[in-house]
Amino acid sequence: MKVTVVGAGAVGASCAEYIAIKNFASEVVLLDIKEGFAEGKAMDLMQTASLNGFDTKITGVTNDYSKTAGSDVVVITSGIPRKPGMTREELIGINAGIVKSVSASLIQHSPDAIIIVVSNPMDTMAYLVHKTTGLPRTRIIGMGGALDSARFKYRLAEALECPISDVDGMVIGQHSDKGMIPLTRFATRNSIPVTRFLSQERLNQVAEDTKVGGATLTKLLGTSAWYAPGAAVSGMVQAIACDQKKMFPCSTYLQGEYGLNDLCIGVPVILGKNGIEKIVELELTETEKEKMKTSAEAIKKTNGLLTI
Ligand code: LAC
Repeated sequence: MKVTVVGAGAVGASCAEYIAIKNFASEVVLLDIKEGFAEGKAMDLMQTASLNGFDTKITGVTNDYSKTAGSDVVVITSGIPRKPGMTREELIGINAGIVKSVSASLIQHSPDAIIIVVSNPMDTMAYLVHKTTGLPRTRIIGMGGALDSARFKYRLAEALECPISDVDGMVIGQHSDKGMIPLTRFATRNSIPVTRFLSQERLNQVAEDTKVGGATLTKLLGTSAWYAPGAAVSGMVQAIACDQKKMFPCSTYLQGEYGLNDLCIGVPVILGKNGIEKIVELELTETEKEKMKTSAEAIKKTNGLLTI
């Protein structure tokens, strides 16, 4: 299994690190446009191999896509991250051009690869990749829901005062402060609905804290987060590499599912060796459906800013 990660910034490097530590990939190529940067990150990471006990070979390259040839999975993290006070949608101007050219170069050298899109605004960038590469929708996966769900579980455990391993929960919809939909109705602690333990008011607070999860970190760090995004991507890559058939909420191109068409939005999917192997359709309440519709409208508005 060969994985390419484009962008050796904090998210890309964390992603490469977590993939290597889990030791399921034979090779990770880290690519960046900044001369020597990916090479440096790769060398530093390789010098952790004997300490962390992994055999994955990590190499770094400066903008040389020929070295990414034959990748099974490619991850696009390139582009600028948001600064405090910015929304993810404001990044579209710069990131759209970058993501378009990066995905074209990747596919030229790895025509069979599965693409994971991380760059923001992520749902719109996944849509852009869909429209410009012409690849089947099963092979273009937006990372957002896996990260947002991890942040939801963190907030649930905080409210429940319990270990995170006790809780389960999922976030669908747009990967944005307003369009994210933490499914509080489905969240559980050891299979028991969390509504049994938390008041509606507290649950609403958990949902609100989850939605601004990225913005909260951006304010604290001065740039956007990297550990949880990197770990979320590595989990998705592992599900594909090891054909796990594992369920993640991911941004995927919908063709009628959830009553939506012609956009990429977060819904639960099954990830395996073929990429998105199934879209799981949930029975949503009228309120949840309404939230999904509003979220979809926001994505379509941002998609409308693309020049494809
Ligand atoms: C975040 C970025 C990756 O939410 O969108 O941290």
